[in-house]
Amino acid sequence: MNPAKLLLNTLLFFQFSQISTSIDTISLSQPIKDGDVIVSSRKIYALGFFSPGNSVKRYVGIWYNQMSELTLLWVANRNNPINDTSGVLSVNIQGNLVLHERNQSTVPVWQANISDASAGNTVAQLLDTGNLVLARNDTGQTLWQSFDHPTDTVLPNMKFGWDKRTGLNRYLTAWKSPDDPGSGNFSSTLDLAGFPQMLLYKGDVKLWRAGPWTGQRFSGIPEMTRNFIFNITYIDNQDEAYLCDGLNDLSILARMIVNETGFLQRFTWSNQDHRWIGYWTAPAERCDYYGYCGPNSNCNLNLTNGFECTCLPGFEPKYPKEWFLRDGSGGCKRKPGTSTCQKGEGFIKLERVKLPDTSVAVNVDMNLGLKACEEKCLSNCSCVAYASAYAETNGGIGCLMYHGDLNDTRKYTNAGQDLFVRANAAELGKMSVLSFFLYVYYA
Ligand SMILES: *[C@@H]1O[C@H](CO)[C@@H](O)[C@H](O)[C@H]1NC(C)=O
Ligand SMILES: *[C@@H]1O[C@H](CO)[C@@H](O)[C@H](O)[C@H]1NC(C)=O
Ligand SMILES: *[C@@H]1O[C@H](CO)[C@@H](O)[C@H](O)[C@H]1NC(C)=O
Ligand SMILES: *[C@@H]1O[C@H](CO)[C@@H](O)[C@H](O)[C@H]1NC(C)=O
Ligand SMILES: *[C@@H]1O[C@H](CO)[C@@H](O)[C@H](O)[C@H]1NC(C)=O
Ligand SMILES: *[C@@H]1O[C@H](CO)[C@@H](O)[C@H](O)[C@H]1NC(C)=O
Ligand SMILES: *[C@@H]1O[C@H](CO)[C@@H](O)[C@H](O)[C@H]1NC(C)=O
Ligand SMILES: *[C@@H]1O[C@H](CO)[C@@H](O)[C@H](O)[C@H]1NC(C)=O
Ligand SMILES: *[C@@H]1O[C@H](CO)[C@@H](O)[C@H](O)[C@H]1NC(C)=O
Ligand SMILES: *[C@@H]1O[C@H](CO)[C@@H](O)[C@H](O)[C@H]1NC(C)=O
Repeated sequence: MNPAKLLLNTLLFFQFSQISTSIDTISLSQPIKDGDVIVSSRKIYALGFFSPGNSVKRYVGIWYNQMSELTLLWVANRNNPINDTSGVLSVNIQGNLVLHERNQSTVPVWQANISDASAGNTVAQLLDTGNLVLARNDTGQTLWQSFDHPTDTVLPNMKFGWDKRTGLNRYLTAWKSPDDPGSGNFSSTLDLAGFPQMLLYKGDVKLWRAGPWTGQRFSGIPEMTRNFIFNITYIDNQDEAYLCDGLNDLSILARMIVNETGFLQRFTWSNQDHRWIGYWTAPAERCDYYGYCGPNSNCNLNLTNGFECTCLPGFEPKYPKEWFLRDGSGGCKRKPGTSTCQKGEGFIKLERVKLPDTSVAVNVDMNLGLKACEEKCLSNCSCVAYASAYAETNGGIGCLMYHGDLNDTRKYTNAGQDLFVRANAAELGKMSVLSFFLYVYYA
């Protein structure tokens, strides 16, 4: 072993051997300075100062304790690093959690925003869930928690989504780079516009859509199954809207991140191999990319002609030349001369799809069943398609009615749900004859 490496190992050992403290709290009388680390009671998580990648800047973060691979799951001052090792994280006299560059400096580099400005005696504690909780020492009332202000990581038992009463949105923003935990361009959120759906954004451009909740999973995540490891909860009521991966066994380590290059990834930690195992990522295939085939189309990777894009019934390519050259991004327009308000209209069923974007031009009626939904859609000339809102709850609950373009629909082989697209008599007649032969095309 060369001397430099030996020195490095010694330094590392020295650093790790310091992490033997069993303290898991920060208080007025017990601040932590750069070099100090607090560890959750079962020694699962650690909080302290770190420098990411090749950076020399200092940040306060939470990482997995006892893991050779430093994996950050939360960063306090992500957009305001400290330039030296003079940082101190403490609870101040008002009871707020504050990070100062120098002990004496007046303006904190970072602080938890607590509504009660005179909470008084408070204690910040790092829990074995990975949550840092600031609470009043007398009543135990939680004033602030890191789970409400995620950086790029969702942990089990954390709510991903909204507290509608306070307007708090718990969403993810990627790091800028492995050397910079600052807020990057990629983010993922539960979007409440229209009918709620989970989305991945680059800036404010939609990159990938998990789609709306089906009762069992998001429409665009067929792999999402209940009762495997997680007890998945999805709540959408007047107070809250969130997804939560419940997990009772805290020795199972799992996380979902939005990474620096714009992908959502899910990992579990292998105790056997001592590494993270990535078991899911999105977007993964061409049809996952938002609007790959443009409006009013269906993206299907399994078409025999090798081109993913097909127009929805009653539509034809908007730009035939590009379409012929296999650029489907222009999407489809209604065939000339087809009105959507004639006698003899009906619906063509597309099976096993990710529902079109539900963020605009969607009406939701949770009290209608599928048959009533069809009737209501048919009776309104502007309704172009309908579907069950929670298709996988008790065989289907509620009614979604689309009034604008049908954007970002895609086909799955074994998952997805039914979408009913409005079609005129000619289109319906064609289907009944052709469907017999063109099984592959629409099935
Ligand atoms: C660190 O240094 C940079 C550049 O000199 C400065 O802009 C920044 O404010 C400093 N950070 C803090 C926390 O003082
Ligand atoms: C911060 O400064 C005060 C007053 O100068 C001192 O009593 C205290 O020990 C300092 N704390 C740290 C963590 O350096
Ligand atoms: C605290 O609130 C202020 C003002 O609303 C905001 O600028 C700041 O980013 C917030 N800080 C944190 C850590 O959330
Ligand atoms: C919190 O309250 C308990 C019980 O009154 C006390 O023993 C403890 O020292 C207090 N902790 C802090 C940080 O003030
Ligand atoms: C974010 O996007 C802007 C505009 O496209 C670009 O200039 C910038 O470099 C990007 N930032 C990162 C961290 O990739
Ligand atoms: C799953 O989570 C829900 C809501 O948090 C809870 O009511 C239920 O008891 C949990 N089920 C199991 C098996 O842990
Ligand atoms: C982000 O995730 C994608 C897909 O899993 C992966 O190919 C890429 O290397 C990841 N980027 C980083 C910076 O880890
Ligand atoms: C049809 O639906 C649209 C969009 O919801 C609505 O504005 C319009 O009033 C409805 N028309 C009728 C006749 O109900
Ligand atoms: C569908 O996508 C087109 C083109 O991207 C956009 O102009 C339109 O507003 C979108 N409509 C809906 C209902 O999402
Ligand atoms: C395409 O079809 C094959 C065979 O039916 C199946 O194994 C594969 O998963 C399908 N791919 C997609 C993207 O649906």
